[in-house]
Amino acid sequence: MSNEKNINAEVISVYPNKVKVAVDDEFITQASETLKIGSYIRISDDDDIALIAMIDNFLIEVPEEGETKRRYIIEANPLGVVKDNKFQRGGDTIAIPPKKVEPAKESEILSIYSQSTEESEKFTFSSLSSNTNIKVPVNGNRFFNKHIAVIGSTGSGKSHTVSKLIQLAVEAKDGDFSLNNSHIIIFDIHSEYKSAFPDANNIGINDLILPYWLLTSEELEELFIDTEVNDHNQRNVFKEAVIQSRKDKFTGDDENKAKIHYDSPLLFDINDVLAFAKSKNEETIDTGEVYVSGAKKGQPKTTQGSLFGRLTNFVSRLENKLNDKRLDFLLGEKSRTITFEKTIKQLIGQKAENKNVTVLDLSGVPFEVLSITVSLISRIIFEYGYYYKRLRTKNNPNEKINNDTPFLLVYEEAHKYIPKSDLAKYRASKTSIERIAKEGRKYGVTLLLASQRPSELSETIFSQCNNFVAMRLTNPIDQNYVKKLLPDTLGNLTDKLPSLQAGEALLIGEAVILPSIVKIEKCSLPPSSNDIPYWELWKQEWKEVNITEIKKEWYL
Ligand SMILES: Nc1ncnc2c1ncn2[C@@H]1O[C@H](COP(=O)(O)OP(=O)(O)O)[C@@H](O)[C@H]1O
Ligand SMILES: [Mg+2]
Repeated sequence: MSNEKNINAEVISVYPNKVKVAVDDEFITQASETLKIGSYIRISDDDDIALIAMIDNFLIEVPEEGETKRRYIIEANPLGVVKDNKFQRGGDTIAIPPKKVEPAKESEILSIYSQSTEESEKFTFSSLSSNTNIKVPVNGNRFFNKHIAVIGSTGSGKSHTVSKLIQLAVEAKDGDFSLNNSHIIIFDIHSEYKSAFPDANNIGINDLILPYWLLTSEELEELFIDTEVNDHNQRNVFKEAVIQSRKDKFTGDDENKAKIHYDSPLLFDINDVLAFAKSKNEETIDTGEVYVSGAKKGQPKTTQGSLFGRLTNFVSRLENKLNDKRLDFLLGEKSRTITFEKTIKQLIGQKAENKNVTVLDLSGVPFEVLSITVSLISRIIFEYGYYYKRLRTKNNPNEKINNDTPFLLVYEEAHKYIPKSDLAKYRASKTSIERIAKEGRKYGVTLLLASQRPSELSETIFSQCNNFVAMRLTNPIDQNYVKKLLPDTLGNLTDKLPSLQAGEALLIGEAVILPSIVKIEKCSLPPSSNDIPYWELWKQEWKEVNITEIKKEWYL
C-alpha cells in the first residue's frame, strides 16, 4: 500500500487499438509539455521497449468521498514501439500488464520523427501542432509519387498549404544550380496563385492557346453539338467534316492519310466544318430535268438535299461558338496555327526562360467549356508522360525511371471538375483525371487535389489518394465521409477535424511515419484571397465606375 502513492499512472485496460490509463495530477504536471488530445505517452515494461500512444480522450473522475486526489482516465491509441531507440509502427511486443506510464519525452518524439525518413528523402513543411519544436518530415518520394488530397472547409488553409508545398519543392536543391527539376502545373480556378508564384509561368485566358483539334471526338461533340437533342444528322455531318478536313490538311503520305480517323490528333479547320454544315443545310440537288412551263421554264429542276434545313440549329450553334470572343483561346486563329510542340511547351513552362511552376489561371474560362479545357490540358500532360516513357524505354531497354522529369498536377477546388456527378458537363474532365488517378503514377504524373467538399469528389479519384492533409472540416457530411476513407486505427483523431485552427491539419498517409496533427509552415508569399472586403469597401467614399470602359471590355 505504501508505495502506491508513488504510482501516479496505471494501465487499467489494454485493447488491440486502445489503452486506458488512470493518472493523477502529478502525472499531468510532470509532463514537459501541456498534455492534450494528440499528445504522446509512453507505456513500458522495461527500459528498452516502450509503446508510444497518442492521447485520444481525457476523462476526469469525480473523487470518491473522503478522497482528495483527482484521477484522470486517459484513453490512448497505440502507435508503435520504440526498441533500442528505433521506432516501429504497430507491434505488440509489450508484455501485459505494462508497468510504467509516463508522458513521452520531447527528445523521444523528436527522434521518432527525425529518424522516420532518410535525410535525402526528407520533405518538411510542418511541425507538431502540440509542440512546434518537433518538425514532422514526410518521405518526399512517397509523398509526391502518390496522389495527394488537401481537404478542408473554406478558410482552413488549403491554398496556403498548397502554396507552401510547392514553394518548398521549387526551392529544394541537390546541388549548386539555379533551377531545380520540379514540374508543377496549377489549375487555378479563382486566380489565387499568381501572388504566391509571381515568377512562375503565369498563363491567363488571354495568353492561353489550346488547339481545339486535340480535343477527343466526345469533347468536340460536347462543344459543338447539342447532345441533349441526340440528332444523328448533326453528328454524322460533323464527323464527316472533321475527318475530311483532317485529310485535306494532312501533309504526310497516302498510306497514313488513309488511316486518319475521327480521333486522330491532327489539325482540322473548324471553318471547313462550318462551311460543310452550311452547304448540307442549303443543299439542292439537280434532278436532271428542266421545267417545261411556268416562270422557270427551261431552268433545271432541283430538289432539296436530304439535310436541307435540318442543320439550321447546328449551323447557328457552330457560328455562335466561333464568334464567341471568350472562346478565342480554344477556337481562335492562334488555336488553328499553334503547333503541337508549342502547346506542350507553354503548359510545361519550357519557354524563353524555363519555369518550374505553371499557373493556369482558369478564372476567365466560361463555365460551359471548363471541363473540356481541364480535360484537354490534363490529357496532354498524361500522354506526354506516356510517350516520354515509351521513348525512354525504347532508347534504353534497361531504363528503370519511367520519367526523369515527373509532374505534379494541382487541382484547386477539385470538386468543380471531378465531382461524383455523372452529368455530361463534367464527363470530359472526369474521364481524363480519373485516368491519371489510375495510371498516372507509372508515367510520372501525380495529382494534388484540393477541395472543400471531399464528399462531392469523385470517389474513384479520391480513393486513389495515398497522402492526406485534412484541415478543418465543419460540414458533418464531409467529416463522416473523410472518416470512412481514413484508416480506423486513427481512433478519435478524426474528431479533431472540426476544431482545427487555420493552418493546422491532420497529416496521414504512406509518407508520414505517424498520423499527426500538424501546423503547416506559413508560406513565404501567400496566395491571394478572393474575398472582397465588403465592409471596408462600403465604408469608403462612393466610387464612380467608368461604364464605357466596361462596355469596351464586354463587346470587344
Ligand atoms: N499555415 C498557416 N499558418 C497560419 N495561418 C494560416 C496558415 N494557412 C492559412 N492561414 C490563414 O488562414 C486563412 C485562409 O487560408 P486559405 O489558404 O485561403 O484557406 P482555404 O484555401 O482553405 O480557403 C489565410 O488568410 C491565412 O491567414
Ligand atoms: Mg483556397
